[in-house]
Amino acid sequence: MKNKFIALSLLATFIISQSCGKKTNSFASTPSKNNAIERKVDSVLRLMTLEEKVGQMNQYNGFWDVTGPTPAEGQAALKYENLKKGLVGSMLNVKGVKDTRALQKIAVEQTRLGIPLLFGFDVIHGYKTISPIPLAEAASWDMEAMRRSAEIAAAEAAASGLHWTFAPMVDISRDARWGRVMEGAGEDPYLGSQIAIARVKGFQGDHFTEFSVAACTKHFAGYAFAESGRDYNTVDISDNTLHNIILPPFKATVEAGVKTFMNSFNELEGIPATGNAYLQRELLKKEWNFDGFVVSDWGSLAEMIPHGYAKDLKQATEFAANAGSDMDMESYGYVTYLAGLVKEGKVSEAHINDAVRRILKLKFELGLFDNPYKYCDEAREKATIGKPEFQEGVLDMARKSIVLLKNDKELLPLRKTGQKIAVIGALANDKTSPLGSWRIGADDNTAISVLEGLAKYPGNTITYEKGADVVTGPTLFPKELNINTTDKSGFDKAVALAKKSDVVVMVLGEHGLHSGEGRSRSELDLPGVQQELLEAVYAVNPNIVLVLNNGRPLALPWADAHIPAIVEAWQLGTQSGNAIAQVLYGDYNPSGKLPMTFPRNVGQVPIYYNHKNTGRPSTNDPQSVFWSHYTDVSNTPLYPFGYGLSYAKFAYSDLKISAPSFSGDGKLTVTVKVKNTSKVTGKEVVQLYIRDLFASVTRPVKELKGFELTEIKAGETKTISFTIDQKLISFYTANKKWEAEPGDFKVMIGGSSATVLEADFNYTH
Ligand code: BGC
Repeated sequence: MKNKFIALSLLATFIISQSCGKKTNSFASTPSKNNAIERKVDSVLRLMTLEEKVGQMNQYNGFWDVTGPTPAEGQAALKYENLKKGLVGSMLNVKGVKDTRALQKIAVEQTRLGIPLLFGFDVIHGYKTISPIPLAEAASWDMEAMRRSAEIAAAEAAASGLHWTFAPMVDISRDARWGRVMEGAGEDPYLGSQIAIARVKGFQGDHFTEFSVAACTKHFAGYAFAESGRDYNTVDISDNTLHNIILPPFKATVEAGVKTFMNSFNELEGIPATGNAYLQRELLKKEWNFDGFVVSDWGSLAEMIPHGYAKDLKQATEFAANAGSDMDMESYGYVTYLAGLVKEGKVSEAHINDAVRRILKLKFELGLFDNPYKYCDEAREKATIGKPEFQEGVLDMARKSIVLLKNDKELLPLRKTGQKIAVIGALANDKTSPLGSWRIGADDNTAISVLEGLAKYPGNTITYEKGADVVTGPTLFPKELNINTTDKSGFDKAVALAKKSDVVVMVLGEHGLHSGEGRSRSELDLPGVQQELLEAVYAVNPNIVLVLNNGRPLALPWADAHIPAIVEAWQLGTQSGNAIAQVLYGDYNPSGKLPMTFPRNVGQVPIYYNHKNTGRPSTNDPQSVFWSHYTDVSNTPLYPFGYGLSYAKFAYSDLKISAPSFSGDGKLTVTVKVKNTSKVTGKEVVQLYIRDLFASVTRPVKELKGFELTEIKAGETKTISFTIDQKLISFYTANKKWEAEPGDFKVMIGGSSATVLEADFNYTH
């Protein structure tokens, strides 16, 4: 039977060589790789029946793990049947060489044409060796580190038989209540675009090898704008927000060569994204010239029925196929109805051919037609997973992701000897929670805990007390996490320990599965009894270093007001405890900056730095109530976007602009001096913001338009320069296109979005 696959491959070669007018048996001799692949694709397409074509557009979940609602009884048997009939193009949630090989064998040896399967998986922040959650990585502002992190994830995934990751998630998110903020790069389209590009490059490499996988930009589009931060909720956004805020990272990944896109669960202008022809056909495939394929999100095709858009699965299938959704993930709509819809004339065969071409193209590009078992090598799998250099890589990423939020009295770095250190909080001793959400390839209990990390510094006396549990039971699938809201029985011991200690390191926050899909929150505090624990310990010893573990921005005004040192350590993955310990002891000087605004309370949410000015931004009359504000909390956030401290200190001065104006294709140079006024070397993210003062549509009060992560030695002054050109000031205007409008602008530079130095310039056509 194996010969059938080889025969297909040879037949494709023969057809190509004939159509090239050459006699050759090698694909490589065709003029360009792309053309060659297109011809190969066409030659396979010509051999396929309509049912086989539709089969390529069908993706099934594997038979073990689920990452969405559990499929109905009996599906497994049907899946095997369809697999043998060649009615499956791709599978997700099958992992490991043993299982991928077994299923690939069925596709290759038992189906009529032997077209290989494509195996997809959510490799979101690592496969077995886990990197920080993507929101944490974004805090590094270090593109090379993030590229490397994705490269490590890809290498392990590919070695385990996988071809395709459903990442990066590039949804710009402004609402910390939404559990999936942990999966993205935060609130800014410029930073988000750079990170999206770095991740795509990391996953895919320059070309596919046995150590890279195809990336998938998701969720197209607007998913993060779910009303009130509740996952899967209605999205209602303006065209302006869609184009200026949400779409830029998606487009950036198309330009970076991403191979696939995933659409989203939400609606846009009342049309579910999966059935949205404007997004998928017009914008993505036509305007942006995307030549990869679009996979639906899990069941999102069928969800057009409860959305109230399609009356049944057959109609949902028609809408999705016509709108340009090329592959159906777990709705069973395409495999059931699509061929019939073509025969009825409701979906054109041209649409089917286009979708199948895109899917086959990726299979050729990955080399699966040459060798369907290319990714199935047990020896490579064994040698690759958990390599020491991968551990080093994720440790590096973890250190870079940490953000120092507060360091009064220079409590940090900790002294390395002679100290009695109390470590308090269940999360300090947790080896699973730091892996975060979306790490389905990794095993529980594989992260280095904070206690283990601190133990590597033997000069102090470290004593641990849990104080209180964060969760009291299973965390993976209960509707609500089992948060401990009552048990304070460990408080007394924790308080007693704190009382006799020099410094207290408290590790508090969210459990790793407190964020992620379906894990929205209506509060942004420390869950359960942790705030009470913090206050009880503070009452006896205020020398507290609060290490936060969380998958989203939290609102912690009490901690900010009272606790001298606060370290944002997110969920940092496998090497979590080592990274935290190295930062606490000053062996690594933190340089992370927040990729998302931290609010003072939930009522401020959504809160983001690039907001509009409004018609009533402030008042000169302190008694006036008629301006845009709250009566009970300030408009400012607790910690702004782009904020983060270092053990070094940086002073900004001498912002200079090369000319007061520029026109057309010209440009300006802005420079600033940054001095490290401290005694230690540190890294700083110098940030450039621009404000367009008057425009055809109102513009944000500032927008990030450049940044440079730079190391500055103690006492050294560096001059950092940025170029401003037409592209940088372009936006989606009232003309419904991206262009630069003439007018007055402000440029601002600093170490966070709350910048101080600024200058003016003018642009003319
Ligand atoms: C998520 C996607 C994910 C897919 C497959 C869906 O529920 O929204 O992000 O890739 O499941 O696991």
